[in-house]
Amino acid sequence: MTILITGGAGYIGSHCALEILKRGFKLVIFDNLSTGHLETIEKLKTIGEFDFIQGDLKNKEEIDEVFNKFKIDIVFHFASYSQVNESIKEPQKYYINNVLGAINLFDSMIENKVKKIIFSSTAAIYGEPIYVPIDENHPTNPINPYGETKLQIEKYLDEYDKLYNLKSVRLRYFNVAGSNGFVGEEHNPETHLVPNILKASKDVPFCLFGNDYDTKDGTCVRDYIDIEDLIEAHLLAYDYLKKENKTNFFNLGTSKGDTTKEVFDLCQKITNKKINIEIKPRRDGDPAILVADNKKVQEILGWTPKKTLKNSIKSAYNYILMSNKK
Ligand SMILES: NC(=O)c1ccc[n+]([C@@H]2O[C@H](COP(=O)([O-])OP(=O)(O)OC[C@H]3O[C@@H](n4cnc5c(N)ncnc54)[C@H](O)[C@@H]3O)[C@@H](O)[C@H]2O)c1
Repeated sequence: MTILITGGAGYIGSHCALEILKRGFKLVIFDNLSTGHLETIEKLKTIGEFDFIQGDLKNKEEIDEVFNKFKIDIVFHFASYSQVNESIKEPQKYYINNVLGAINLFDSMIENKVKKIIFSSTAAIYGEPIYVPIDENHPTNPINPYGETKLQIEKYLDEYDKLYNLKSVRLRYFNVAGSNGFVGEEHNPETHLVPNILKASKDVPFCLFGNDYDTKDGTCVRDYIDIEDLIEAHLLAYDYLKKENKTNFFNLGTSKGDTTKEVFDLCQKITNKKINIEIKPRRDGDPAILVADNKKVQEILGWTPKKTLKNSIKSAYNYILMSNKK
């Protein structure tokens, strides 16, 4: 059994790669290192053997070569650009990378008779919620190009199932946080809340966007899912695809919401440092509340989140401390 991970040099892909190596599967990682890191690949090499191919999904012949060289059974597709604000400024960059890249991958899979894929989707496909918690029947109406690219890819996956019998599990992540202690979150620029608070201090304030939302303390509510729970869901999705051979899609969140202020307070407590806050106006396209209804994934994949937000903040902070020591 050989697994192909696209985007394995990035935050979530590298956590998944580590788990796959630990379980003894053969692994190929394909990544163009646009936002991922070669050091992450080198670190993973100390855990187990795998092939790393530096290539770009935008160039179909580069992904074709992977399928020609290795007998791939299943693909975990993480590779994508994922910064909402950048996608608003440069939508074409997102459509070309995410959508064209995905079509090249799917076409190459079909040509090589690889018929199973697990795809990283996002809560951003739902847009401004009409109700919360958001279940999988919630209308999809993305409010930024990033979310739109992910929705389009989900639609292509339905078409490719009808046309070519390509079976997919789409996992719609809410806010991912934490580290497994070996690899961590190293986006540049970092746009995610937990690492941004943890990297702030008395001198470098944390920027809080909007404190006048209709929530219990005026700040946005989000659903934080721990990276290790998230990866567990991917392995359950893999079992489901192998056993059921059916296309399906699931929200991945805890069904519990925390406000930005609550996350901030918890970060201050865990790090035991004074962090200054700078209140800024609301950002466009930031809904007040985004919380998942996760009944479907619990019922069908048998997944339940085990970690708390406190666990995620602690592991993220430990990873930052460990990286700073080097
Ligand atoms: N981090 C989150 O909270 C979150 C939430 C929802 C969805 N997602 C999705 O999860 C996936 C992984 O996110 P992440 O946080 O690990 O991002 P990341 O930027 O750390 O990793 C993405 C990886 O894909 C690679 N890549 C990008 N375009 C490529 C291309 N054309 N060809 C080959 N490789 C390419 C990058 O070099 C990088 O290593 C993405 O699809 C993202 O949209 C993430």
